[in-house]
Amino acid sequence: MATVYLILLTLHNINRWLVLATGVWTLIRTVPGVRSGRAFTPQDRRPVVAFTGTVHLQLILGLLLYGLLGSQGAPVFAGAPNAGFQWQHLGLGLLAAVTATVGSALSRRAASDRGKFRVATTWTAITLLLVLLLIPWWRPLLRLFTGG
Ligand code: HEM
Repeated sequence: MATVYLILLTLHNINRWLVLATGVWTLIRTVPGVRSGRAFTPQDRRPVVAFTGTVHLQLILGLLLYGLLGSQGAPVFAGAPNAGFQWQHLGLGLLAAVTATVGSALSRRAASDRGKFRVATTWTAITLLLVLLLIPWWRPLLRLFTGG
């Protein structure tokens, strides 16, 4: 159990950086697009899809971690600064998966190119904000299969 926990925790830790990086990549492409009036191309779609994918992967890894700790009766986020942190993490994590998915779907369906840029920008910014709020920043910034 300890080994599986460390593997999942390490993947969840590292994928957090992919979530943040793909979110910033999305904004770098979509924010200028809102004003420029240029066409929304497959190159603009790529970061949106990558961002949604990394958020979904994070959700799956988180659920596996949660299930594993729960099945062992082990505490989740022991030593967190506030007692309700585990519910904040879980709730905002689920919400982030929803907002990323909604943003990707609505951006795809928007009638105009400017609309696609605007929708992708708004929902990605909301999702990134949620992610920044839910990350346990007191935990290791990079974990490589080690405890602590
Ligand atoms: C984008 C969303 C999320 C991000 C960025 C994120 C990020 C993190 C980070 C950085 C850690 C600490 C890793 C470490 O200590 O090395 C963590 C731990 C954890 N996360 Fe998430 N998480 C997200 C969503 C979720 C969701 C949706 C769940 C549950 C369904 C979840 C469950 C957990 C659990 C169980 C732990 C380990 C707690 C412990 O070791 O006591 N996470 N998360």
